[in-house]
Amino acid sequence: MADHICPVWVGYLLASPVRRIFQSPDKIVGPHVKKGMTVLDMGCAMGFFSVPMATMVGADGRIVCVDVQEKMLESLLKRAAKAGVDDRIEVLNCAKSETGLDYLRGEVDFVLAFAMVHEVDEPETLIRQLHSLLKKGGHLLVAEPRGHVSSEEFDDTLRWSAKAGLTTVDRPAIGRSHAALLKKTD
Ligand SMILES: C[S@@+](CC[C@H](N)C(=O)[O-])C[C@H]1O[C@@H](n2cnc3c(N)ncnc32)[C@H](O)[C@@H]1O
Repeated sequence: MADHICPVWVGYLLASPVRRIFQSPDKIVGPHVKKGMTVLDMGCAMGFFSVPMATMVGADGRIVCVDVQEKMLESLLKRAAKAGVDDRIEVLNCAKSETGLDYLRGEVDFVLAFAMVHEVDEPETLIRQLHSLLKKGGHLLVAEPRGHVSSEEFDDTLRWSAKAGLTTVDRPAIGRSHAALLKKTD
């Protein structure tokens, strides 16, 4: 599946406010992100979701923003500072094959993996890692772009998730995306 990584210029487009017309962070992550939560935005790019989620978790919450591209994170930090929420944002420039997130094992309430699983070389391994980071009862929202990912490929993601111990609890309708809300039940 992984044949390219989203270029930085596309990162600017993804962070555009115009995107809210068909992918509203309030509607997509708003129901899942509460005050005080620890949230992981995996493959965050320039923070289209991270910055609003930082407002949602409040000053006592924490958003861990992870990306393989340093330039995405630099832009994210500028946007977070402009929005006055950089105090609760941590950024991590991870390697392609290693998240470096073991220190968060069992601590995360909510993981967002939006339009990133198809860019990963070993998606099944990534899903197992995300499962290990969640608290019991925590959720992973995974969404993949219909333009790049077929229904069959998204079904593979759901199969790997079930194998890892993540139960599909909802199939939210998200513009131009396949999406599933998964819960860590074990
Ligand atoms: C299409 S963009 C989506 C960005 C963001 N989630 C959004 O919806 O605006 C995919 C992002 O995932 C990042 N990415 C790709 N492979 C990754 C990996 N193995 N670990 C972390 N981030 C990765 C890319 O650098 C890029 O910023």
